[in-house]
Amino acid sequence: MKTLITGASSGLGAEMARQFAALGHDLALCARRVERLEELRAEILAAHPERTVVLRALDVDDHDAVFRTVREIDAELGGLDRVIVNAGIGEGAPIGTGRFDANRRTLVTNLVSALAQCEAAMEIFRAAGRGHLVVVSSMSALRGMPGSMAAYAASKAGIASIAESLRAELIGQDISVTTLFPGYIRSEMNEKAAPTTPLMASTSDGVRAMVRAIESGAGEAIVPAWPWRPLAVALRHAPLRLVRRFA
Ligand SMILES: NC(=O)c1ccc[n+]([C@@H]2O[C@H](COP(=O)([O-])OP(=O)(O)OC[C@H]3O[C@@H](n4cnc5c(N)ncnc54)[C@H](OP(=O)(O)O)[C@@H]3O)[C@@H](O)[C@H]2O)c1
Repeated sequence: MKTLITGASSGLGAEMARQFAALGHDLALCARRVERLEELRAEILAAHPERTVVLRALDVDDHDAVFRTVREIDAELGGLDRVIVNAGIGEGAPIGTGRFDANRRTLVTNLVSALAQCEAAMEIFRAAGRGHLVVVSSMSALRGMPGSMAAYAASKAGIASIAESLRAELIGQDISVTTLFPGYIRSEMNEKAAPTTPLMASTSDGVRAMVRAIESGAGEAIVPAWPWRPLAVALRHAPLRLVRRFA
């Protein structure tokens, strides 16, 4: 299995790389902080010397570079089997408070740039007639979220919608699409935001649930299942005054 992961320089992406390498996958790892990728590659090859790990410096907001990089890696590895659209940012501010820049950045990276990654991956998969596209959405996609979460929630709802559209289109074909809806999993993104919440899974446990869901080929998965699956049911139906306490 040959798997490309964007946003592999930290958090969930880096840990997915470690866990997929342990499962015997060859990897293509992309992010802007290429020195982090080099450290991760050294760590993975020390544990699994038989693996192939290729690296690319990639800013996913450079959309031409996204297409170029995915095509190059596909050629270099002799065909990609899976692309995991994981790169994302958690910036944002309440709407109308002078921070359109931060909210726009979140929509661009998490939605428009994620679409670019889906387009690039799907071109490869359509040509090959097979492949597995994975998008990392969020529990916050399930409802509108107040304050600084508004743009982030919209971006994650948007990419989940695009993935579902593809799933509908591809029924009966050998190209599958998985959407992950992670709850709180320890990473750089949330290490300052919610240091004490008891709902926070460790990076390794949370990513183990993500990897299991990806390997199962599920269309959608809320991860980790506990406590997030029951919370998702509650969240989908809760009145807004309760939803606002979730953010
Ligand atoms: N952790 C959670 O609780 C949680 C919950 C739900 C969803 N998610 C989603 O999971 C994904 C991974 O986040 P994380 O929690 O692991 O956060 P993280 O530790 O901050 O990692 C984010 C990754 O995205 C990359 N990235 C950000 N902007 C990029 C850009 N313009 N170009 C290329 N790469 C970029 C970063 O790499 P560079 O900075 O090196 O480029 C980094 O590797 C995100 O999509 C996030 O929204 C996380």
